[in-house]
Amino acid sequence: MCESGVRKMIHYEEFERERLDPIYDTVAPYSEMKKNERYFLNGIIRAMKPKKILEVGVSSGGGSAIILNAIRDIDGAELYSVDYTEKSYRYPDKPSGFLVEEKFQALMDKWHIFRGGDVSRFLEEIGGDIDFLMLDTVHAHPWETLNFLCILPFMKKDSSWTVLHDISIFAYLQNGRINSLACRYLFTDVAAEEKVKPVSDYDNNPANIGAFRISEATMKYSDNLFESLLIPWEAEVPESDYDSMKKIIEKYYKPEQYKLFCEAFPFQQYLMGRKASFVSSLKVFLKTWQPKLFYWLKHSLQG
Ligand SMILES: C[S@@+](CC[C@H](N)C(=O)[O-])C[C@H]1O[C@@H](n2cnc3c(N)ncnc32)[C@H](O)[C@@H]1O
Repeated sequence: MCESGVRKMIHYEEFERERLDPIYDTVAPYSEMKKNERYFLNGIIRAMKPKKILEVGVSSGGGSAIILNAIRDIDGAELYSVDYTEKSYRYPDKPSGFLVEEKFQALMDKWHIFRGGDVSRFLEEIGGDIDFLMLDTVHAHPWETLNFLCILPFMKKDSSWTVLHDISIFAYLQNGRINSLACRYLFTDVAAEEKVKPVSDYDNNPANIGAFRISEATMKYSDNLFESLLIPWEAEVPESDYDSMKKIIEKYYKPEQYKLFCEAFPFQQYLMGRKASFVSSLKVFLKTWQPKLFYWLKHSLQG
């Protein structure tokens, strides 16, 4: 605590930067993070010295390389990386995580890579005692929340950390709606002992990466996360993925949470099936972008 009684935010992006410096230029072109975000990931791992790290969302392998470099002198530390796709979506002729294989062969002895499915399919094999999670997947609700709910039972509940990328990057669609809300929902709703962020890489915008510390309370107060599955989804979840998640939720959570989980899927299918009529779309558009005109028309038509 600092003297005022307000807890001082620790800036992990400043911690042991010299560890990342030598590989920075090799990694940067393939990493989908900004500068402070990369140093934040490096710094928090150097500070926490985790032993069993799970990375979900690999792409070219920029994040994997940063993590492997950060743990190379930590005895017994291992990285388990999972990507939904066999091939990197940015370099479709190369496997997900190719950067590690191409440029960081010497770090591969601590690396286990799983490709070609949602993380829920690999968790029983990866096993428990995960004490650090790097989560960076779809960004469209409900994906990050689903990913996290599946992974949480496999995490140590005393002082494990989750790093979540893209908590403030939102995309505006032509219809005036905003998407990429998934990471912000999870970061806001999760019950955690503390939440930390680096100095933002974006001039006037908030930091786009954050980390939170997990405890037994995270599991105990996970109802919020289940409730958030009822917020309209921005992306579809294939039924086969939902089924593999369901097995984990049924096994590790309370029956009433499992029930909510099972209800969310048909509810979202029902919502997606309700096609907005032209008139209701026009009403939403006017109300959002031309509220004066909307209310004038409404009163005139009613009057
Ligand atoms: C934003 S990229 C990850 C970037 C990477 N973390 C980095 O720092 O360079 C998102 C990746 O998540 C993967 N992905 C999406 N859904 C996933 C899921 N359910 N389980 C595992 N990986 C997933 C995608 O295939 C994609 O490669």
